[in-house]
Amino acid sequence: MSAAGWWAQHRLRVLLPVLFMAPALFFLFSAPSPPPLFTLPASRELPPRLIWAQRRLVEWRPCRWWRKAMPAPSRRNGYIRIDCFGGLNQLRRDLCDGIGVARLLNATMVLPKFEVAAYWNESSGFADVFDVDYFIEQTRGYVEVVKDMPAEIAYKEPFKVDCSKRKGHFDYVESVLPALLEHQYISLTPSMNQRRDRNPPYAKASYCQGCYNALRLNRNVESKAIELFQAIPKPFLSLHLRFEPDMVAYSRCAYSSLSSKSLESIEAVHGDGRKVLTGDAARLWRNRGKCPLTPSETAFILQALGIPTNTSIYLAAGDGLMELEGFTSIYQNIHTKSSLLAHEDFERMHGNTKAALDYYVSVNSDAYIATFFGNMDKMVTAMRTMQGLQKTLVLSRRAFANYTAAGLAGEQLAEAMWDAHREEYIRGRGSALPEHCFCEFKL
Ligand SMILES: *[C@@H]1O[C@H](CO)[C@@H](O)[C@H](O)[C@H]1NC(C)=O
Ligand SMILES: *[C@@H]1O[C@H](CO)[C@@H](O)[C@H](O)[C@H]1NC(C)=O
Ligand SMILES: *[C@@H]1O[C@H](CO)[C@@H](O)[C@H](O)[C@H]1NC(C)=O
Ligand SMILES: *[C@@H]1O[C@H](CO)[C@@H](O)[C@H](O)[C@H]1NC(C)=O
Repeated sequence: MSAAGWWAQHRLRVLLPVLFMAPALFFLFSAPSPPPLFTLPASRELPPRLIWAQRRLVEWRPCRWWRKAMPAPSRRNGYIRIDCFGGLNQLRRDLCDGIGVARLLNATMVLPKFEVAAYWNESSGFADVFDVDYFIEQTRGYVEVVKDMPAEIAYKEPFKVDCSKRKGHFDYVESVLPALLEHQYISLTPSMNQRRDRNPPYAKASYCQGCYNALRLNRNVESKAIELFQAIPKPFLSLHLRFEPDMVAYSRCAYSSLSSKSLESIEAVHGDGRKVLTGDAARLWRNRGKCPLTPSETAFILQALGIPTNTSIYLAAGDGLMELEGFTSIYQNIHTKSSLLAHEDFERMHGNTKAALDYYVSVNSDAYIATFFGNMDKMVTAMRTMQGLQKTLVLSRRAFANYTAAGLAGEQLAEAMWDAHREEYIRGRGSALPEHCFCEFKL
């Protein structure tokens, strides 16, 4: 066997233990600049076994059935304003649900209201983030949207209908239509747990069209996003790394090797009485994939997937990331909003605007990897699918927990991670898509 052939076969075997030990070695050799531990003679660097190069069996695409307009409502039952709360991606999720409900009730939508939670400390409304005229135009034939209501209705406050806490499946027609008919103008906060698959096709189609084909960032936000996008060295991977104090505290997971600074930040959030799980409960919880991946675990998995350590990576994340050195000590070609945008631009920006930038960059990046499957990841993976961008993967916390619990480490763990994620990627499961808007195509 040629030397190159041997190297191709054994590269992972040789390289991974070295890479895995890197953080430890890094501390040992803590020099002013990181030691060049991973540099190999350029001539020996072979194309890695890369996750994106695997031949897929299944691909998701937007289904055809909802891409043509549906029959018009038989009558108009009144006006609905969708009231949405939270951060950008939660606002968007509620808006999407609301669009479906408005059509289900044969209501006319007025522009949604974005009520931003105090946590985000800002006031961006719908028009501050999204392009209003585009939304109205693109939803035509699906759901009627107006900027202004008739004067006799516009002067009153809408009657409030809050379904956010409703559990299980309930019938919007049964429980909300009477209020709509009576008041003619209601504000609605959709349920967070609603099953949408039982809605009639015209309501489902409106949901799909409204959510995935009608929301575009407004010109101001988009031009800032384009500026950011253009500044990132190409090709690049957008990585949504989620390891923030609130999230870790909320997960109730214990981690053995966090810095005291991280532990303090987590403890500060724990103030609300949530206790870290211990013993069997903690093990079960972790094995169910409930524990956020740390930055160093993420770096390990990315290497197992063959993603070169010099890959240009955009970190789509807030400012509160903990333990980031665990990632940046291995992947060093890292870009963020704050490193690429002019300082004063960045300082003035709303949380929702920042989130919109991450969203835009992630929807348009060459590849997208999420360490968690939250609201942003659901939106981004779906929007990438709309555009035919298939290099999209949600890392499996469950597989990682499972195999580490089974005692795997180093190269064996890397092999197991490769197998698990390769399987998800080629079967299109690594980016599980919403319900009825997307269809599987066998390749
Ligand atoms: C809404 O209109 C559809 C026809 O598009 C009709 O089948 C349905 O019964 C109407 N629903 C309500 C609540 O008015
Ligand atoms: C929230 O916004 C107000 C007014 O814009 C500002 O004075 C305050 O410092 C902000 N608080 C945080 C935590 O950013
Ligand atoms: C990463 O390293 C490989 C091999 O040395 C090289 O071919 C490639 O251009 C590098 N990529 C970047 C983004 O620097
Ligand atoms: C968990 O690990 C076991 C072997 O240890 C394996 O059989 C099983 O498929 C794994 N499950 C997942 C979800 O990775």
